[in-house]
Amino acid sequence: MRMMVTGGAGFIGSHLVDRLVSEGHEVLVIDNLFRGKKENIAGHLKNGSVQFYENDIRDYDQIKDKFKGYDVVFHLAAQSNVMGAVEDIDYSFYSNVVGTYNVLKAAQAAGVRRVIFTSSREAYGEAQYLPVDEQHPLDSKNTYGASKVAGEKYCQVFQNMGAFETVIFRLANVYGERDFDRVIPIFLNNVARHEDIHVYGGKQVIDFVSIEIVIEALVQAITNDEATKRPTNIGSGKETTLFELAERIMKLTGTNNRVVVDPPRSVEVVKFTANISRFKSVFDIAIPDDPLYYLEKMVGKMN
Ligand SMILES: NC(=O)c1ccc[n+]([C@@H]2O[C@H](COP(=O)([O-])OP(=O)(O)OC[C@H]3O[C@@H](n4cnc5c(N)ncnc54)[C@H](O)[C@@H]3O)[C@@H](O)[C@H]2O)c1
Repeated sequence: MRMMVTGGAGFIGSHLVDRLVSEGHEVLVIDNLFRGKKENIAGHLKNGSVQFYENDIRDYDQIKDKFKGYDVVFHLAAQSNVMGAVEDIDYSFYSNVVGTYNVLKAAQAAGVRRVIFTSSREAYGEAQYLPVDEQHPLDSKNTYGASKVAGEKYCQVFQNMGAFETVIFRLANVYGERDFDRVIPIFLNNVARHEDIHVYGGKQVIDFVSIEIVIEALVQAITNDEATKRPTNIGSGKETTLFELAERIMKLTGTNNRVVVDPPRSVEVVKFTANISRFKSVFDIAIPDDPLYYLEKMVGKMN
């Protein structure tokens, strides 16, 4: 099939591109390289297995003609960093809300069959109960979460209007190689450099889900019809505190760093665990009991 990946030079997008190419799909990437890197997909660009446009989804004219002939659009392009989205509200609004609208409009005009959208656990805001199921109110705590709620609503409206089918994933905290500024890569860098590990507030409970589980879910979303009916949480369903994470990383790397507790950052959601009943029933994916199982592979590759 012919697949488009917006944000395909980023962390999750580039892993998805690897998988789609390995399955023989024709892949087009649109990315403005705001956070993504061409080196993430360099092998594919070199051997011509991926077509790449350095375009900005904020500008409809740049992207409108690119969608013709594509069956499925994975719409991942976004300001994906919570703190960044709060610091520059304009950028996150124009990329995540207007940009999503532009992608959907272009997909409709081109007759795309399905759009798969990566929303976030941040759509829920601070949890009223744990684990958070998909019926939990969408009470975002920050502008990033609000932009994802808006994106979801536009996806649903286009589906309701009969433009195309849509699959909405509310991703928990995804981790894996090529991520660079979220908590796991930061802690891994800290131990590699023998620095203190900083924890904001110290009360966080995080649901970590590995990149391999997320990619499997995205690929199954191409053909899974049940998934189009309503949003699905993609997580491990397990709680991890940042102290547990730091301990685990130090154990795996044979280091012993000081863990320092800094003041909390008020825009961040403190506690989140996904209820993954729907994920487990709608998708055919084995979810390991240990949410941090994939850390071992990452550390192994670093050595
Ligand atoms: N990584 C996570 O834990 C997580 C959790 C929940 C949701 N998500 C969502 O999943 C998607 C992928 O996340 P990621 O972790 O790979 O982030 P990422 O930042 O690595 O990837 C996003 C990509 O979008 C591109 N981009 C940003 N603004 C753009 C614009 N205006 N035009 C074109 N391209 C633009 C960036 O350059 C980047 O390559 C995002 O939509 C993110 O919000 C990620």
